[in-house]
Amino acid sequence: MNAVLQRADAIAIEGVSKWFDKDGTRTTALDGVDLHVAPGSRVALVGPSGCGKSTLLYVVGGFVEPSAGTASAFGARVDGPGVERGVVFQEYALFPWLTVADNIAYGLRRKGVSKRETARIVERYVARMHLQGFEHHYPRDLSGGMRQRVALARTFATEPPILLLDEPFGALDAQTREYMQDALLDLWNASENTLLLVTHDIDEAVYLCDTVYVMSRRPGRIVKRIDVNLDHGEGRESIMLSERFRELRNEVWLAVRDQVRGHDDEAHR
Ligand SMILES: Nc1ncnc2c1ncn2[C@@H]1O[C@H](COP(=O)(O)OP(=O)(O)O)[C@@H](O)[C@H]1O
Ligand SMILES: [Mg+2]
Repeated sequence: MNAVLQRADAIAIEGVSKWFDKDGTRTTALDGVDLHVAPGSRVALVGPSGCGKSTLLYVVGGFVEPSAGTASAFGARVDGPGVERGVVFQEYALFPWLTVADNIAYGLRRKGVSKRETARIVERYVARMHLQGFEHHYPRDLSGGMRQRVALARTFATEPPILLLDEPFGALDAQTREYMQDALLDLWNASENTLLLVTHDIDEAVYLCDTVYVMSRRPGRIVKRIDVNLDHGEGRESIMLSERFRELRNEVWLAVRDQVRGHDDEAHR
């Protein structure tokens, strides 16, 4: 790898705006967003509902074209989806005509992984995501939580250097959510990939990420950066109970509340 590539951000978002024109009305979702994510870091985006979090993630994923500005991954300008950027959508889109195993195998086959290796990886992720016995089921026969686990397995299985996750654990019960959060941290420890996580769960943002960015109400911009630096060697229990965790969660919560309140003030003016 040359020096330029080594220095490049994993993700660079520069001056990104996005507006939608419909029936003569313009909705501005994003307004001049700048964000740089270093390789191997874990970044959370939080903010009021409708502030443009998903839109920003999909700009990076290459599914939404910005109206202004650019997004780049490892120094290369994003102009469509790419295998180095694995996305888990809020609606955990699965291929309905493929079984659980074939959904998980999909990206591996696209990458040209051999049949034998694909079968091994699929088996590993079926076990990790607690999907044993459902390999040959179709998505329509699964609960929402199980579909979400298949979507996560499908994306994790290819171990992309950049993971873009849009509220990935929302449909899971509390115990499974905790298990999945820790599975994500394990995965990150093993591969040191770069993580951009959209979530409305402030505890999740603080627990999983080393930087939390708070977005303003729509049109979305970044209004605050909070550095986390928790030691995950201490384990979930002691982190969750620590004073530091409480302070950080409170700081993020207050910043989001300010944005939500601003929205209310405007509506009542
Ligand atoms: N395809 C689209 N067409 C029109 N408006 C859209 C589209 N996608 C998103 N929006 C609007 O952009 C704003 C931001 O949406 P979104 O990124 O989904 O917010 P968040 O994920 O933070 O809840 C919302 O007002 C939403 O209605
Ligand atoms: Mg969203």
